[in-house]
Amino acid sequence: MYNADVLNSSTIEGMLAAPGIKWHRDPPDVIGMWLADPDFPTAPFIKKALLNAVQDEDLLYNTDDKARAAMAERVNKKNGFKLTKDDIYVTQGVIPAMWLAIQNSGAKPGDEIVVTDPMYYPFFTAVETCQMKPAYWTLHEEDGYKFDIEGLKKVVNKKTKLIFVCNPHNPSGRVMTKEELKGIVDVAVDNKINIMVDELWDDVVFDGRKHVSLATLSPEVADLTVTSWGISKTWGLPGLQCGYLTATPKVMEGLKKRAKGVLRGTSTLSIAAAQAALDRHGEYWVKDIIAHLTKIRGIADKRFKEMGCTVPELQGTYLMFPKFNVKMTHKELEKLMQETAKVGLGTGTEFGPEGEMHMRMTIATSESILGEALDRIEKAVKNK
Ligand SMILES: Cc1ncc(COP(=O)(O)O)c(C=O)c1O
Repeated sequence: MYNADVLNSSTIEGMLAAPGIKWHRDPPDVIGMWLADPDFPTAPFIKKALLNAVQDEDLLYNTDDKARAAMAERVNKKNGFKLTKDDIYVTQGVIPAMWLAIQNSGAKPGDEIVVTDPMYYPFFTAVETCQMKPAYWTLHEEDGYKFDIEGLKKVVNKKTKLIFVCNPHNPSGRVMTKEELKGIVDVAVDNKINIMVDELWDDVVFDGRKHVSLATLSPEVADLTVTSWGISKTWGLPGLQCGYLTATPKVMEGLKKRAKGVLRGTSTLSIAAAQAALDRHGEYWVKDIIAHLTKIRGIADKRFKEMGCTVPELQGTYLMFPKFNVKMTHKELEKLMQETAKVGLGTGTEFGPEGEMHMRMTIATSESILGEALDRIEKAVKNK
């Protein structure tokens, strides 16, 4: 029988005995908190859907129609879209959508793509892979990582072909306000710049915040935007590599043309899991993880502050991004965490220069694992 306590039940021993690179990249005496994977077990109804798909031998080429219908229904209900299954395109996770959006933006090598600093680093990789130039829109921790539209205007020019938006934002934990989103929309529409918005974390928002989907703000911006979601974070299913995107029919036509022969949706098992997750069976799960994460966030926030860290307010995602106010270099800080504290954290500079002296911690774990990690960090910082 399901009980929400399972969300608080992970142990170090249990995680080391389970698969997943987060707990196995480093030696076993290091606590794995660097990757954005939760330590929660798989939701029971998703396990059942996967087992049923195997039992039914749903392993041949198959349509993803039903899953796309569930995806459309989810975002219609949650974000106020009016989509049918034909407005949804399935990808192997959110990451390929970054590449696809660049391909469809009309950008030529050397053109510019706006990324925030800091930002989830695969956005930088996509820009580099496509031989584009990143235009860094700097977000300042001292301003609470406000999406300052005047700052955006300064980086936009005639060579700008795409703006990458991540909302909720990894790694700052910000959830954009409607006003911030409107500011981005105005810049994009006025300058006819495309947008790719990654809304993978849209379920993971705290304190009753409402996540607003950028493309719903006006028909003009919808015509410029690719919106992408997935099942990796809420459902802890990144190994299944399933994402889905939407765009208006005109944009979708271009996306499909570019994807043809290169991207081919995802596996039948991933589709079975996605359908189960999005078919409304999982609302209790979302509620329970938010309740658990709210508690965990409070503990981590308090403890990091007691250690003298600056802790950005975690409005969304389960990624905390504390800044260590210690007299050492960033490299020394990394070494202190990894080798002395023996806690595997994400290193701030991977997310851009603004990540200097920050470390990223995935807090989707149990109170016991979190407590042990914080004790070790506190001790290492005190004795440095
Ligand atoms: C903002 C963001 N986008 C995309 C991804 C990757 O998503 P997927 O596994 O669906 O490709 C992550 C993973 O942490 C992420 O945080």
